[in-house]
Amino acid sequence: MPDSNKLLLTALNGGKTERKPVWLMRQAGRYLPEYRALREAKGGFLDLVYDPDAAAEITLQPIRRFGFDGAILFSDILIVPHAMGQDLRFEAGEGPRLSPPLIDSGLTALNAVPSRLEPIFETVEKVKQALPAETTFLGFAGSPWTVATYMVAGQGSRDQSEARRLAYRDPAAFGAIIAALVEQTIDYLSRQVKAGVDAVQLFDSWSGSLSPDQFERWVIAPTAAIVAAFKSRHPEVPVIGFPKGAGGKLPAYARETGIDAIGLDETVDPHWAAAALPRDLPIQGNLDPLALIAGGEMLEKAVARIISAFEERPHIFNLGHGILPDTPLSHVEQLLKLVRR
Ligand code: CP3
Repeated sequence: MPDSNKLLLTALNGGKTERKPVWLMRQAGRYLPEYRALREAKGGFLDLVYDPDAAAEITLQPIRRFGFDGAILFSDILIVPHAMGQDLRFEAGEGPRLSPPLIDSGLTALNAVPSRLEPIFETVEKVKQALPAETTFLGFAGSPWTVATYMVAGQGSRDQSEARRLAYRDPAAFGAIIAALVEQTIDYLSRQVKAGVDAVQLFDSWSGSLSPDQFERWVIAPTAAIVAAFKSRHPEVPVIGFPKGAGGKLPAYARETGIDAIGLDETVDPHWAAAALPRDLPIQGNLDPLALIAGGEMLEKAVARIISAFEERPHIFNLGHGILPDTPLSHVEQLLKLVRR
């Protein structure tokens, strides 16, 4: 078994590990001084993403500093719409801008630029060469629904209103966007595997804004389609689903999508999840990123509560959402001691 020393991969496959694997969403990023220094030197966020040497270095930074059990590819979920032909900018303090927004132009106005994905696969190859044998390498994509919310509005939005309105007003037009994203995502994840990742995560950051029937149609069905096609190509590569905000819809998501492991956000009660989700399903999560900022005894209690809830099943310790830029490095050290003792 060549990969049996990868704790995170073992847990994703439902196996027992001698200690709990841990990694943090957004672990490569602004809370790290070495990231801020490289970003300062190289320019903007996208300049880093499209420079395979820089992106590989940033992927490895948190592994060197903390020895996390997983390394997540440094990139962004919005690289896929960029390759589908939307212009993409990240303005400091403003978040992403995609143009033209699909609410104005629709999908047919876009001319795909598939070469925009090539540097990402080059980054994967470089990281693969440099990563310690025991570290699991995670690729990722955004889920169609979450990516579509940005494509339709042309930017982030508080309640994803533009995409939700379009989905009701013109389900055929919105369905065409989702179908195109399903196709792109299958291919994109498959190419990440071929370049060297061990497992993949689907980020569905805005799945919480949908009513139950819309959730079935725009979250569960496209995710199930991606997982089925991906699994037919790579049956041995685990898929983590992270439907942030799904709440009471988590059991349906777990049953119906075919994902191998499920990520929980910090609003989910771990004891409820342990009882409500299939017994053998590996769970990832779900520390409140603000408890990590608080540190001390608050952090100790929060960590203990999560660990005790998942004693009986494969569990990968993580945050409920990305680590925040003002997180003290010493609190990350404290967290690792708590999880690994
Ligand atoms: O987890 C990791 O470290 C891997 C890399 C990664 C990034 N973004 C790097 C990033 C991953 C997996 C993402 C996913 C992502 N990107 C999501 C889904 C997860 C989530 O956070 O909900 C979403 C919605 C995006 C889109 C996105 N990217 C936004 C809205 C922003 C601006 C807001 C922000 O946090 O700055 C980004 C920028 C971004 N993506 C940064 C990083 C490290 C910050 C870049 C910088 O300012 O240096």
